[in-house]
Amino acid sequence: MSAPDDAAWIAAAGAPRTLPSYATTPSRPASQGHADHSDATRRAVEAVSAVEEVAVDPAFVQDQDVEGPEDYATVVHVSAQESAAAFSALFDAPVEPEATELAAPAPEAPASPAPPAPAVAPEPELGPTGRPYRVIPEPAPVDRHGPARVIAMCNQKGGVGKTTSTINLGAALAQYGRRVLLVDLDPQGALSAGLGVQSHQLDRTIYNLMLERSTTLADVLVPTKIEGLDLLPANIDLSAAEVQLISEVGREQTLGRALRPVLHDYDYILIDCQPSLGLLTVNALACAHAVLMPVAAEYFSLRGVALLVDTIDKVQERLNPDLTVDGVLVTMFDGRTVHSREVVATLVEQFGDQLYDTVIARTVKFPEATVAGDPITTYAPSSAAATAYRNLAKEVIAHDAH
Ligand SMILES: Nc1ncnc2c1ncn2[C@@H]1O[C@H](COP(=O)(O)OP(=O)(O)O)[C@@H](O)[C@H]1O
Ligand SMILES: [Mg+2]
Repeated sequence: MSAPDDAAWIAAAGAPRTLPSYATTPSRPASQGHADHSDATRRAVEAVSAVEEVAVDPAFVQDQDVEGPEDYATVVHVSAQESAAAFSALFDAPVEPEATELAAPAPEAPASPAPPAPAVAPEPELGPTGRPYRVIPEPAPVDRHGPARVIAMCNQKGGVGKTTSTINLGAALAQYGRRVLLVDLDPQGALSAGLGVQSHQLDRTIYNLMLERSTTLADVLVPTKIEGLDLLPANIDLSAAEVQLISEVGREQTLGRALRPVLHDYDYILIDCQPSLGLLTVNALACAHAVLMPVAAEYFSLRGVALLVDTIDKVQERLNPDLTVDGVLVTMFDGRTVHSREVVATLVEQFGDQLYDTVIARTVKFPEATVAGDPITTYAPSSAAATAYRNLAKEVIAHDAH
C-alpha cells in the first residue's frame, strides 16, 4: 500500500463531484443536494416557527439526532402532526395527507400519462458506501477460544470514534460468544471510563504491566459488566511511558511481550490507541495482526490518513511484516449531508474493499451511553447504532474466517 498525498486527498474530497452510486440509491434521491437541503431546512424551520411563534435555529435542528417525525417533535417541541409536515419538508420524507397544509407547496406538475414501468430487475439495495450490501453470515458459535487476533484501533486524530468503536465492537463480539480483551493504551483512560472503571483510583494499570517486571497481567486485568469482555485499564500514569520506553531494550515490543501470556485465552484483543503516532501507538502496531482505522465522515478527517497509512507501512517494513489494514470504518456519518457522502466516496476510491460496509451514523445515543458507562449494545440494544456495531462484529468475524 502506498501513502497517498494528503493534499490530493483533500482536493479530491472537496472538489465538486457527481456520485453515480448514490444517485441510484432509491432512498436517497439525487436531487437532495446542499442547496435543496438548506432550502428544505428553511421551509421546515419557517413551518415550525409559524406554528410555535418561536424562532427555531436551523443549526440546532440539524445537529440533533432526528430520524423521524417523533424525534423531530421532541427536538422542537411541536405536535406529532406539525412535526410530520416539518420533518417531511426537512428530510424529503413522505407525509400523511392531513398534515400536508404545513408542508412546502409542491410545484405544479404538468398532467401527462405515467410512463410505462421499465421491465428491469430491481436494483440491489445500496449501502452508505454506495456499494450493495454484502451478505454476511451470522457468526457460528465457538466452543474453543484463542489464539487471539490482535487489532489496533488506530487514528492519530482525536474524536473520530476510536474509543467508542473499541467498546462497542468489543461488546458486540462478546455477544457473539467471543472472548475479548480490551486494552486501554490512551493515558486519558476514556476506554476504562466508558466501561465504568474508575481507573484514576487504580494502583496498577497497563503502565505498570509494561514498565515493571513485578506486575503481571492478572494484577491489572479487570472484568467488565459484559460476560466475556475484559479490560486492561489505563490512567494518566501512562503518559510517562512514552518517555520511559525510549531507554528500554526492545522498546517497540513492550506491549507485545506483556500480552503474550493471554494470547491463547482470547479470540480478540482490541487496543484503543491514543491520538498520536508516538511510541505507544507504535507498540500497538508492532504487536497487532491488523489495524482498524475509524475515520469520521468529515473533510478534515481525510487530512492525516495518508500519514497514518505511511506509519503503518513503516511498522510493517521494519517491525511487523504481517500487519494488515483489516478495515477502514466510517464513523459520525450523516447521510443527510452531501459532505458526509462525498467523504465516504473518497474513502471508497482510496481503500476499496478495505472499507467496511458497516457505517456508524452520528447519533446522540453515544454520549448518553458513555455517561452511563455501558456499551450502546447493552444500553440501547435495539438502536440503529447497536445494530451497526453488531454488523461490524459480523464483518470482523467473517474476515477472520478467510
Ligand atoms: N457515531 C457517533 N455519533 C455521535 N457521537 C459519537 C459517535 N461516536 C463517538 N461519538 C462521541 O464523540 C466523542 C469522541 O469519540 P471517541 O470514541 O472518544 O473518539 P476517539 O477515541 O477517536 O477520540 C465522544 O464524546 C463520543 O461519545
Ligand atoms: Mg479515545
